[in-house]
Amino acid sequence: MTPAELIAKKRDGHELSRDEIAFVIRGFVDGSIPDYQMSALAMAIFFQGMDDEETAALTQEMLLSGVRLKWTVGSPVVDKHSTGGVGDKVSLVLAPLLASCGLRVPMISGRGLGPTGGTLDKLESIPGFRTDLSIAELQDIVERVGCVITGATENLVPADRKLYALRDVTATVPSIPLITASIMSKKLAESLNALVLDVKCGSGAFMKTRDHAVELAESMVRAGQKMGIRTTALVTDMNQPLGRMCGNANEVVETLECLTGAGPDDLRYVTLALGSELLVSADRCSNQAEAESLLIDRLDSGAAREVFEQMVNAQGGDLKNVCCVAAEQVVLAERSGFVAKMDTEALGMAVIDLGGGRRRMGDSVDHSVGIDMRVKIGDEISAGEPLARVFADRKVPAIMSRVSGAITIGDSPGEWPEFIVERVR
Ligand code: URA
Repeated sequence: MTPAELIAKKRDGHELSRDEIAFVIRGFVDGSIPDYQMSALAMAIFFQGMDDEETAALTQEMLLSGVRLKWTVGSPVVDKHSTGGVGDKVSLVLAPLLASCGLRVPMISGRGLGPTGGTLDKLESIPGFRTDLSIAELQDIVERVGCVITGATENLVPADRKLYALRDVTATVPSIPLITASIMSKKLAESLNALVLDVKCGSGAFMKTRDHAVELAESMVRAGQKMGIRTTALVTDMNQPLGRMCGNANEVVETLECLTGAGPDDLRYVTLALGSELLVSADRCSNQAEAESLLIDRLDSGAAREVFEQMVNAQGGDLKNVCCVAAEQVVLAERSGFVAKMDTEALGMAVIDLGGGRRRMGDSVDHSVGIDMRVKIGDEISAGEPLARVFADRKVPAIMSRVSGAITIGDSPGEWPEFIVERVR
């Protein structure tokens, strides 16, 4: 079959065989299938979808385009992947927390693009912290410290790197089978025993509705299980920022609070829920309650913070030098009432406009800026009380009014959102 015949087959709603998918991905990576044919196929997949067999075959072929991590015999190797949210610093807490429970965590993370921040950008507010580790360095630190958080190397799933760039400019990113293959191929390359997915849902997430988020979670869980990794997912709320801090350096400060048993309730709750999933999937604990009490002990005793510090040192950073947070300017409530809802995406975009995130790949990031949310949905507030603190070393009146406009104050107490919207196993 020629590439054009294969595109036509998918365009007309037929399933592609494993061999046909292998032919396309290998051809795309070696350059014999040009970008315009791959774009046409991505668009056909966008409209026609893929069944589980096709999605698994696509995931497997993308995985085979690069190298896989290798582990010595020993503790289970686990990871968490989040689809991205505003104020989402769970990875920074969870990787050392799980390592302090005896698991190995090779967390390969990304940079922020658009309203959701990037784990690597947050960590780079620690001067010297390296996010460009080689595979040998990554494996060495995981074996010594228990966890690492770093960026993907060139040779890890090159098919995804190439295909994602094409999807980005052809409006084919929001396709469940394409997202599933993209995320799961990268996680499979880490050679994990267990994976938990945090699929964010709401006004600050890629998936705005519960139904779409559950659909994506189910697709990724099926793909992971088909490929032999114990995979579960939590759909978690992103109708307001997670925790209070949104930015970079200020999120590291909040991470350190959470790592010593303090910090905001929602951040702690979601972190414990995701961690418990992995401790049970990896057979470290026999049930969620046992897992949760082990995690609480590791947070409250300072053991998890100690591992975080070891990881930071191993990656070239020093916690004594975390970048300072910029001067604060307070956003005050204009009326009394109850916090009814938030436009979380607008809050994420405000952080970008302060300089704390990027609109285009390659934009630089100011680690010192950000927002501290002083309210949560359901809180009662009086006119003149603080809604948020904006961190910036210059006057930013337009951003202050956007932050105020992103927080709706109503007359009655609304419902407190559930932190965990759904569990998918
Ligand atoms: N994140 C990824 O890594 N891939 C996608 O396709 C979407 C989000």
